[in-house]
Amino acid sequence: MQMPRWLKFAIAVLVALSFVPLVVAYRYRQVRKPRPRLHLVFDMDDQSKYKPQEPNDLFADGRAMRPRIDGTVPREEIVGDPELTTGRRADGSFVDAFPVAVDRELLLRGQDRFNIYCAPCHGWDGFGQGVVARRADRLQEGTWVPPTSLHDKTVRERPVGHIYNTIRNGIRNMPAYGPQIPVRDRWAIVAYVRALQRSQNARLEDVPEDRRGTLR
Ligand code: HEC
Repeated sequence: MQMPRWLKFAIAVLVALSFVPLVVAYRYRQVRKPRPRLHLVFDMDDQSKYKPQEPNDLFADGRAMRPRIDGTVPREEIVGDPELTTGRRADGSFVDAFPVAVDRELLLRGQDRFNIYCAPCHGWDGFGQGVVARRADRLQEGTWVPPTSLHDKTVRERPVGHIYNTIRNGIRNMPAYGPQIPVRDRWAIVAYVRALQRSQNARLEDVPEDRRGTLR
């Protein structure tokens, strides 16, 4: 028996329509949206937890937020001499004298740490041609901010406390290295940065008096 024309037509339309969800799903997988995708299975997106200031019966005082345990120190708290640990005086200005003794041992330590932590971007010599910077230059991504040359006049004229603060907290596009480099090593690096700067901008006064005669 022959299928009625309208039935053939209806089937063709239904088959065509059945592609619509597939096409829509495909399309939505391609476009970028600020909101997360529709979630059918929530996985661990939504977990029960206590928020600050909420009550919690588990503790005798009924508070979810726990008071600080004796002897613990919050990360942002200044421990010890602030000039040593922050590079700033009480009035907030940067110190311009080293709060640690600068000797050969400190400089060698600074060289060692600088070559690990800073040279990848700033280069062994501080001119800003480290491997990371060179690679970023090659990729030409446009969003890359090149590392400042440490021999720039502005950096040379920064007080030591400012450079210390740059290591500790980062500056503009440079990340903070405080969490990775302990206080004494930060000063060691600052001392080494000064040595690098001096190596490119030496003055006659830097040469011991009895050796000045040998210079031309
Ligand atoms: C991941 C790359 C990177 C590393 C590693 C890095 N820096 Fe930088 N540094 C930068 C960039 C980028 C800038 C420029 C930031 C800007 O201008 O936005 C900069 C700027 C600076 C400046 C100039 C800041 C000023 O006074 O204007 C100093 C000083 C400096 N860095 C020191 C260091 C020292 C010391 C280390 C090692 C502890 C270090 N940097 C590690 C990328 C880096």
